[in-house]
Amino acid sequence: MRKPLVVANWKMNKDIAEGRDFCRRLLPLVDDCTGVDVAVCPAFTALAAVMAELERSGVFLGAQNLFWEERGAFTGEVSAAMLLDAGCSCVIIGHSERRHILGENDVMVNRKVGRALEAGLTPIVCVGETLQEREQGLAFEVVKRQLDVGLDGVYPGENELVIAYEPVWAIGTGVNASADDAQEMCGFIRGWLRHNRGEILADSIRILYGGSVKEANIRDFMAQSQIDGALVGGASLEAESFADIVRLVNND
Ligand code: PGA
Repeated sequence: MRKPLVVANWKMNKDIAEGRDFCRRLLPLVDDCTGVDVAVCPAFTALAAVMAELERSGVFLGAQNLFWEERGAFTGEVSAAMLLDAGCSCVIIGHSERRHILGENDVMVNRKVGRALEAGLTPIVCVGETLQEREQGLAFEVVKRQLDVGLDGVYPGENELVIAYEPVWAIGTGVNASADDAQEMCGFIRGWLRHNRGEILADSIRILYGGSVKEANIRDFMAQSQIDGALVGGASLEAESFADIVRLVNND
């Protein structure tokens, strides 16, 4: 049985005070939700302060990116060891905004995933097609390539990796994928894992859906057998709406 996971991706939002305030409001609302894992991913600048709030809770801290080198002359980059030092246990890798705005490619994603695993951080690897790719019938081909290259040579232990299926056209648009389409792609991803990494791993890895997840649609996604949780952007910025999503997943 895979335990559901709900991840808040704050993107480039919230300073330290706002991050603290969010945690103080969130924690009392979700402290009895033992049937779901929860992670919060602030910007680098707020990691340590948010960790101080989360310390005595069961909520995990995650980062939104990392660099694959250990240290040195890499201006502007942050290492896995620095994330561990700040209290992170997971890290989002290959988010579509990084791919499309910052030019991150599958090879870079692959290096980051390898480094995160080596360091003991759980990578949350994002994959997903653009609207044009979906309309051209290329969605499965694109996701397959992202997995083939992004996870090349990556052999995680059971449940040491998370994959988030986030169709680019659904992110921040208010237009979510249908639960059926999300189920189909998450099933495809699990099939890739089964074929390339074996049954045991495929059954243990959590596959999340992301893209305009909110209180009103989370139940539909969680009713799907292949969907193990959600990566939430916009609806994770308010503690109350994020808590509602966590609570709905917990009751599933
Ligand atoms: P959204 O973002 O929930 O605002 O669509 C999801 C994400 O980018 O992870």
